[in-house]
Amino acid sequence: MNKIPQKVKVSAPGKIILSGEHAVVYGKPAILSAINRRLTIEICGKKNNGDFDLGKLSGFSMDFIVNELTKKIDGISDVKVRSNIPVGSGMGSSAAFAVALVASVGKFVNNEWDTEKINRLAYLFEKKHHGNPSGGDNTVCTFGKFLWYRKELEEYKIFNPISVLKKTPPLFVIDTGRPMESTKEMVQIVGNRYKNSHTKTDLVFERIEEITKYFLKFLLTGKGDIAKLIRANQRLLKELGVVSNSTQDIVKRIEAIGGSAKVSGAGGKKGASGILLVYHDDPEKLFAFADKSGLIIHKINLGEEGARIEKTN
Ligand code: MEV
Repeated sequence: MNKIPQKVKVSAPGKIILSGEHAVVYGKPAILSAINRRLTIEICGKKNNGDFDLGKLSGFSMDFIVNELTKKIDGISDVKVRSNIPVGSGMGSSAAFAVALVASVGKFVNNEWDTEKINRLAYLFEKKHHGNPSGGDNTVCTFGKFLWYRKELEEYKIFNPISVLKKTPPLFVIDTGRPMESTKEMVQIVGNRYKNSHTKTDLVFERIEEITKYFLKFLLTGKGDIAKLIRANQRLLKELGVVSNSTQDIVKRIEAIGGSAKVSGAGGKKGASGILLVYHDDPEKLFAFADKSGLIIHKINLGEEGARIEKTN
């Protein structure tokens, strides 16, 4: 039998969606990227019997997970969760948590590291806690990099790393704040729209798919106008009803200074809409704008590594 570690530290990255959110729930493609923010779970303990069924983790409640791990899994005495991914803002904090949870418990209890399995079980965890996810978030948080992702069927999801041209222009995120709605609620809002206005909503998804393909081409070849793609994508997300008025106002002001911005992730309708993915030929202008408007802006590194073991002994 393999040596069982006494301490395991695992991390998973946050993510952004460059194009395709919401449409991806309906079988359209999305482009996602792992980013340079991570969530880490450290598990300590003395012994374990190596036969815990990881599938049971999706039944654990998210809020009490740390307690549940120490109480229900033989040998775990301490669990620490640390993260610099903002919660509920579209940067994949919950998917990173699900991935790091499954990966760290699997490593600690069973001494295994199987990324396919980590991804599959993290998806079950996401489903249990968020309703009807596409599975894109947990996949990019597991495998990292830039991913082309499509859910063909519940039982068949395809994804491929994208070999991105080295010189991708710098991209930024501006935080509009934590939405009042959860991701589950935002997915439901789009779901209701789809039910009530099927043909029109399908058309929006098709146009999003078209933009996602242009985005892919841009990443692969550098050909295309990223500013235009981001703007067009934002208009379609607005049409889907996932952009609040206050967020749309920020987007308009960014466009007025020559930039472009889109909601990335589930968005938000009543208050804030989470993060905006932002581009400008002259990033200084974005920083001046954010400063003047009291908004937080960060440069993000894309294509980062997926789930990884930080430390074991
Ligand atoms: C959330 O990060 C992205 C959505 O497309 C939902 C999903 O893909 O599960 C809104």
